[in-house]
Amino acid sequence: MSPSRTAVLSDVWKDGIFDNKVVFCTGGAGSICSVQVRALVLLGANAAIVGRNPEKTRQVATDIAKSRDGAKVIGIGGVDVRNLESITAAATKCAEELGGIDFVIAGAAGNFVAPISRLSANGFKSVIDIDLIGSYNTFKATVPYLLISAAKHGSKNSTGSLLGTGGRIVFISATFHYAGTPFQAHVGAGKAGVDALSSSIAIEYGPMGIISNVIAPGPIADTEGMRRLAAEDGEKTARHGVPLGRWGRKKEIADATVYLFSDAGDFVNGTIQVVDGAAWRLGALATASLEYPGILETYLEGSPDLTPLPARPKSRI
Ligand code: COA
Repeated sequence: MSPSRTAVLSDVWKDGIFDNKVVFCTGGAGSICSVQVRALVLLGANAAIVGRNPEKTRQVATDIAKSRDGAKVIGIGGVDVRNLESITAAATKCAEELGGIDFVIAGAAGNFVAPISRLSANGFKSVIDIDLIGSYNTFKATVPYLLISAAKHGSKNSTGSLLGTGGRIVFISATFHYAGTPFQAHVGAGKAGVDALSSSIAIEYGPMGIISNVIAPGPIADTEGMRRLAAEDGEKTARHGVPLGRWGRKKEIADATVYLFSDAGDFVNGTIQVVDGAAWRLGALATASLEYPGILETYLEGSPDLTPLPARPKSRI
């Protein structure tokens, strides 16, 4: 069932603020990104959502399009962000069908829980390829359109302009790498790179009117990420791991996105917007209801690279 408007965004935003704007979103059929796109569409935007699964991507696009009369939302399936040609073709299709690209959400991500001792080089690389290289590819594929949009609507001339905003990108990152999180070495490393990439874009492209920011969601209820990462009763025990005593809502990530793309965010560039109820300050372990160090023993038992090393020869001195 499609979510209600109140499940998608707060009622502080004005209808029509994104009229005639086009959003391009990778991972757009996913649990968080689809809500971000739906919020922008409700406020006037048209959108292209991009994903690997053609059927799922098409279905979610059709559903989001129903949220506002006259909305155009296209689903571009069969796209892998690891492949620059694939994502470039998707960006071209979006621009041809919807007239350009004003906002980008780089949301495609890969995750699984694995200790380093059970993580093959290819497993590590797969997540780096999706999260970090995929984010880079997304920017490379869309930057020609973002530059056009920034020139028309960018931060330099948006204040007081009827044209509104444009030329903005938001990367979806995470908080795993702030304190370090077990079994997330691959994702933490990838997301740390995403944060660095966004900062460099902000500096190199700011003079051309492009605005680049990161949103780092904490534990968000009813998402694929938390289904993969947290213990089954994690949400019930959230009061121990999140200062605000609960998991976040998808609409809270959508609200942050609206803020960053709206004229309220005109001077906000190169930042990381953490939306996690201050959970990371207590450590991701608490959030996911993991007991340390007991959890290590459970995961590491029988790990191939943890067989004891041969005894070292005694020093002759
Ligand atoms: N533990 C350890 N290694 C794992 C693993 C797990 N749970 N799941 C996958 N891998 C390893 C595989 O063994 C493989 O390495 P190998 O060739 O050395 O065996 C490597 O990761 C790639 O796996 P593969 O299934 O071929 O990759 P893929 O490209 O089809 O899928 C993933 C990429 C692995 C990231 C997959 O989890 C995925 O597609 N995720 C997308 C959705 C998602 O994660 N959403 C969450 C967002 S928070």
